[in-house]
Amino acid sequence: MDKKIKVMTVFGTRPEAIKMAPIVLELQKHPDTITPVVAVTAQHREMLDQVLRLFKIKPDYDLDIMAAGQTLFDITTKVMRGLDDVLTKEKPDIVLVHGDTTTTFAGALAAYYHQTPVGHVEAGLRTGDKYAPFPEEMNRRLTGCIADLNFAPTETSEANLLAENVPPETIFVTGNTVIDALHHTVQDAFSFDDDRLKQVEFGKKRVILVTTHRRENLGEPMRHVYRALRRLVNEFDDVEIVFPVHRNPKVREIVNEELGGLRNVKLIDPLDYEPFANLMHRAHIILTDSGGVQEEAPALGKPVLVLRDTTERPEAVSAGTVKLIGTDCARVYEETKRLLVDEAAYSRMAEAVNPYGDGQAARRIIEAILYHFHLAEDRPDVFMA
Ligand code: UD1
Ligand code: UDP
Repeated sequence: MDKKIKVMTVFGTRPEAIKMAPIVLELQKHPDTITPVVAVTAQHREMLDQVLRLFKIKPDYDLDIMAAGQTLFDITTKVMRGLDDVLTKEKPDIVLVHGDTTTTFAGALAAYYHQTPVGHVEAGLRTGDKYAPFPEEMNRRLTGCIADLNFAPTETSEANLLAENVPPETIFVTGNTVIDALHHTVQDAFSFDDDRLKQVEFGKKRVILVTTHRRENLGEPMRHVYRALRRLVNEFDDVEIVFPVHRNPKVREIVNEELGGLRNVKLIDPLDYEPFANLMHRAHIILTDSGGVQEEAPALGKPVLVLRDTTERPEAVSAGTVKLIGTDCARVYEETKRLLVDEAAYSRMAEAVNPYGDGQAARRIIEAILYHFHLAEDRPDVFMA
């Protein structure tokens, strides 16, 4: 093959890194046709580096933009400025961005200003509400406007794109790469290095795993959730809450105020992806406002109560493993309690379903790129749940 394409991946936060890692590894498997370039913005720092270490990814460029208390304006302008230089130097044939963060949108816009084609990984998820999640819904939509190739994880996300008149030949239904990443990490025999996790009596206690970070939940909504958790641990002796707390200082402050020092509540730093995935595997119930966790937990057969009013991931809600419960204190308490006392309700949600992927998403995405550049004859197969 005489033609070779340069494929630049751009990402910056923890979830983008986890979901782009399988793509970076897959790109490396095609040295005859693909020159991979990895540019990280480091919108997140420690939480990004944790993932880079796990997947042994050494970025070619690191914009190192994170600053405490950074605003959306800071992130957007720093990413644009930094990527201008990288794109000028590298002149990639295509830029891949992932999902819905500000790195995603600013990365896509920077590529567009260079008239470089954009591939959008995890395209087409929608809530239909431009302020929920904020600013992710708009980041994803705007990235979709720019994208030349759209890697929709599911048929639902494909349908969203078609409804917006995105040309069908630019859409590839691939599954979500998060399931590829999960296949790398979850093991029945996994043992935790972290001392605090070693102390958790998984056999004796029912572990509720909690994560929260959404901007629209900062402040009172988070307080409500944490007060519900306080009530639950006071009432159920056999329940232990394990809560890896996001590094956002605005989250940490409220968590410490509401849950600090409580018996049966373990507040820990964000975990590396490997222990976190294995912690999900051992948890009894998961409470979260995370996007990625909503996709992973159903694949592990764990009931998920989502601390949001809307979701762009309706597949697992339809399948019954995920329930949207919002952040009202009484509701969070009641819904969690139901799963603790009603075995039938628990079992109904704990059936493993996996609407999001089969571990082959990265392969399909690279095959689609090769097809687009006439380096492969056929479109990749379509992911079917
Ligand atoms: C960002 C994304 C959100 C994604 C989330 C995943 C945007 C606007 N938001 O939200 O879509 O769901 O990441 O976690 O793109 N911090 C650290 N160390 C880290 C990471 C963060 O100290 O490794 C602190 C910093 O003080 C930073 C703050 O957290 O200013 C917030 O980070 P930011 O990326 O602005 O927003 P997130 O809430 O993390
Ligand atoms: N995760 C992790 N360590 C943690 C908490 C979460 O590795 O302590 C992983 C989780 O498995 C998922 C991703 O981080 O793959 C989700 O990131 P986050 O909730 O920050 O962002 P979102 O998915 O909501 O954009």
